[in-house]
Amino acid sequence: MLEKLNEIERLGLEALETVRDEAALEAWRVAHLGRSSALMQLFNGFGQLSKEERPVMGQRANEVKKALEAAFNARSDELRQAALKRSIEQERLDVTLPGRRVPLGRLHPDTQILRELYRIFGEMGFQVYCSREVESDEYNFQLLNFPIGHPARDMQDTYFVESEGRGDNPIVLRTHTSPGQIRAMREISSRNPHNPAPVRIVLPGMVYRYEQVDARHETQFDQIEGLAVGPGITFSDLKGTLADLARRLFGQNVRTRFRASFFPFTEPSAEFDIECFLCGGKGCNVCGGGWLEIGGCGMVHPVVLQNGGYDPERYTGFAFGLGPQRIAMLRYGINDIRYFWENDLRFLEQF
Ligand code: DAH
Repeated sequence: MLEKLNEIERLGLEALETVRDEAALEAWRVAHLGRSSALMQLFNGFGQLSKEERPVMGQRANEVKKALEAAFNARSDELRQAALKRSIEQERLDVTLPGRRVPLGRLHPDTQILRELYRIFGEMGFQVYCSREVESDEYNFQLLNFPIGHPARDMQDTYFVESEGRGDNPIVLRTHTSPGQIRAMREISSRNPHNPAPVRIVLPGMVYRYEQVDARHETQFDQIEGLAVGPGITFSDLKGTLADLARRLFGQNVRTRFRASFFPFTEPSAEFDIECFLCGGKGCNVCGGGWLEIGGCGMVHPVVLQNGGYDPERYTGFAFGLGPQRIAMLRYGINDIRYFWENDLRFLEQF
């Protein structure tokens, strides 16, 4: 009988070695420790043993039973650990997966070039003054010395917003940033009418014209207006300021030129050109003749000074109105102004 018990133990432990999953383990338990297992059958037969044999066999049988149960528990633990390990590996969250990129916005090239201009003008002592985009005819034209019917109005084909019941003073989209000159001068001079403070400002913003569109003309575009008013300001101050601006933008060797021109609100007036870097001065569809017109300028007309609250006997001033987009075109080699507001990401993403 002892031999039989040893055999039961050996077979049981051997069989347990081959158990690979929970189902096989349960089958093993039924076969080796269950009620009809060989071991339990032996227990049932103890009644027929002699008094001397019984305790010896009983002890050994209990040992075998304990050994099998311990082996069963250990195997069961092993299987559970293995299953856990497998599930951790299989269901692992792969944190190395690259995240989805959030597309970052960026500043529009107009904004970028304007900010650069603010920085440069700031260094020269100009403050930024923001004026309105919707204007009256009075501010957009009349106070700037364009009376009703003045032929110079033809240069600025105008979008009218509202004219009914407004007589000679319809509401318009500003055709240039120059009306801001009057608003700023009036605001500053009203603080001290008899001895108004000098003015040194730039006025940026969008302007609107009902124009034939081409590579350098758009129906809406940015301008940056400059205005300096004070005692003893001369045309050489104007030339120095704009030439310095060009050098700060394009380097010491940039070539600039002033051409005599006409604007009702300046006298004398000039046009300000920078050599065209797009064609190297040979002439192209952007510049025409090798120079790109960046804006107009001149000495503030006495009538305009007067309208702003500045006595033209005591004050002089210069003004200019530049096209930041034209500057950006030269800076970045953009050959068509229409790209700026076409809203094509392939263009905008290059800045
Ligand atoms: N306002 C003019 C335009 O849009 C540009 C201009 C010319 C502005 C001469 C000025 C100036 O301040 O002095 O065509």
